[in-house]
Amino acid sequence: MSKQLVVYISATGTTRRVAQNLAKAIDADLAEIVPAPPFTAQDIDWTDPTSRASRQHADRAMRPPISASPSVDGYDEIFVGYPLWWDTAPREVRTWLESHDFTGKTITTFATSSSSTRGALGEQLHDSAPDAHWVNGRRFAANASEAELKAWADSIA
Ligand SMILES: Cc1cc2nc3c(=O)[nH]c(=O)nc-3n(C[C@H](O)[C@H](O)[C@H](O)COP(=O)(O)O)c2cc1C
Repeated sequence: MSKQLVVYISATGTTRRVAQNLAKAIDADLAEIVPAPPFTAQDIDWTDPTSRASRQHADRAMRPPISASPSVDGYDEIFVGYPLWWDTAPREVRTWLESHDFTGKTITTFATSSSSTRGALGEQLHDSAPDAHWVNGRRFAANASEAELKAWADSIA
């Protein structure tokens, strides 16, 4: 059986909850990408063009620092979860992807959002881990059940 890891980043806990449920549902290990420093409410104010989130969104080349960068050694299948920020992942996800070797590994994305689904497929992230085998992901609601998450994970296995 392949060894599975669920990795996530979460600013306000929604993606964390879905990631925890997914890991439990498929009996995978769980690890967090931790931004350095952690996000404050002010940092993620999308109405403020000078907020940390707005500034990273404006600069495609930015690779913001992370204080926890989960290892993928020994895992075959990695699920990567993130909140959709302007239809993509926080750039810390790219920092993480570009710090590890995904040769021979499968990455499947999942995302949470207020309503958007664009960006959940993960295609925009492929160039940060070109050696991975990428599987298109999907968006989940904040209250996605373990049963729903397991059915999805089984469907792509
Ligand atoms: C900076 C920022 C940008 C966002 N952009 C979008 C968006 O484009 N579309 C959307 O549906 N939700 C958007 N959201 C809402 C988040 O995707 C949503 O609240 C998500 O579930 C938060 O996950 P978290 O609690 O794991 O951080 C945005 C939130 C933030 C903070």
